[in-house]
Amino acid sequence: MTVRVGVIGGGQLARMMIAPAVELGLDLRVLAEDEGMSAQLAATAVGDYRDLETVKAFVRDVDVVTFDHEHVPQEVLRALVADGVQVHPGPDALQYAQDKLVMRAKLAELGVPQPDWAAVHDASELQAFIADHGGRAVVKTPRGGYDGKGVRVVRAGLEASDWFADLPEGEALLVEEMVSFTRELAQQIARRPSGDTISYPVVETVQRGGVCAEVIAPAPNSTRRLVEVAEQIGRTIAEGVGVTGMLAVELFETDDERILVNELAMRPHNSGHWSQDGAVTGQFEQHLRAVADLPLGRTEPLQGWTVMVNILGGPQQGSIADRFAPAMSAHPEAKIHTYGKAPRPGRKVGHVNVSGDDLDDVVYTARGAAAHFD
Ligand SMILES: Nc1ncnc2c1ncn2[C@@H]1O[C@H](COP(=O)(O)OP(=O)(O)O)[C@@H](O)[C@H]1O
Ligand SMILES: [Mg+2]
Repeated sequence: MTVRVGVIGGGQLARMMIAPAVELGLDLRVLAEDEGMSAQLAATAVGDYRDLETVKAFVRDVDVVTFDHEHVPQEVLRALVADGVQVHPGPDALQYAQDKLVMRAKLAELGVPQPDWAAVHDASELQAFIADHGGRAVVKTPRGGYDGKGVRVVRAGLEASDWFADLPEGEALLVEEMVSFTRELAQQIARRPSGDTISYPVVETVQRGGVCAEVIAPAPNSTRRLVEVAEQIGRTIAEGVGVTGMLAVELFETDDERILVNELAMRPHNSGHWSQDGAVTGQFEQHLRAVADLPLGRTEPLQGWTVMVNILGGPQQGSIADRFAPAMSAHPEAKIHTYGKAPRPGRKVGHVNVSGDDLDDVVYTARGAAAHFD
């Protein structure tokens, strides 16, 4: 019988599950936030993912529920599980991707290396942490942040006064030491409900203004030690939190060659878009396999290098559609993905994947193809 997978959230991650779902013979259904969302083609319902009745109605005729984002409230998730609905990842795992303070405490328990951190309730606690950590620190809102929103570098406790003022009674902000990293990396791993896992090669990610701009897969200068350390961190977390589906672990590599965990995502992740065209099994297919408890696919790269360049913002004039044919004509070797979203400054509206055996060529081509959409 055809397995019906329900995805909560209609963004580009849900959109990019559509093609692999068709190929795997899965029936994909999406609960979209609005009309005209990125995953519109598979949207069978439009409604508020925070509303239990809306979500219950959506999951009534699906076999397994998964997500495009991490924002479905714990109460809603737990009510589904209590009703016997298969939810992957489940609420016990997902909490660590929903709240960065809960995540930091769990990583400490698991003994995973991470930046110094603390929960701070007011400006004076923040000031004390800053004073102990070289005069600056990174403050984060524990919930709801993305693409650098909810992340701020501060040199004084008062620089987060607005965030403290908005905090519900008794809650705290996360503060971390400002890590002096040489680069950022990401490790992905898929885990089935049965416990089977498979890791992807560790990749290098480049963030601009807190937003992922480019990914190089595998990470250049991937020593055996780096590959093993990153993979072990991914596996320890995946098993320690009991994630099902895709897990992405964002990492810092420090100038003294330590690998520290930045944050977690329990869904397909921007750092894994390269795998759509550059690996035996793309992350969207892998996520579907994992949540449907199907055997996992191999993850080896198909060529020496794959570079992913995000299309951020989109054209200031004209439409994304108009830019397609010229970009395809100039770069027939590029795989161009578009999300069906209107251009807006800083917004992720698509990406380009290019693979090959010469990294300089691959980077040049991927940037060139993406630049057609500026
Ligand atoms: N402790 C830190 N030290 C240095 N840079 C950081 C730190 N935390 C975050 N950053 C930078 O900010 C970016 C966004 O932070 P992150 O916690 O990943 O938030 P988001 O949820 O928006 O992705 C990171 O990719 C990194 O470039
Ligand atoms: Mg991040």
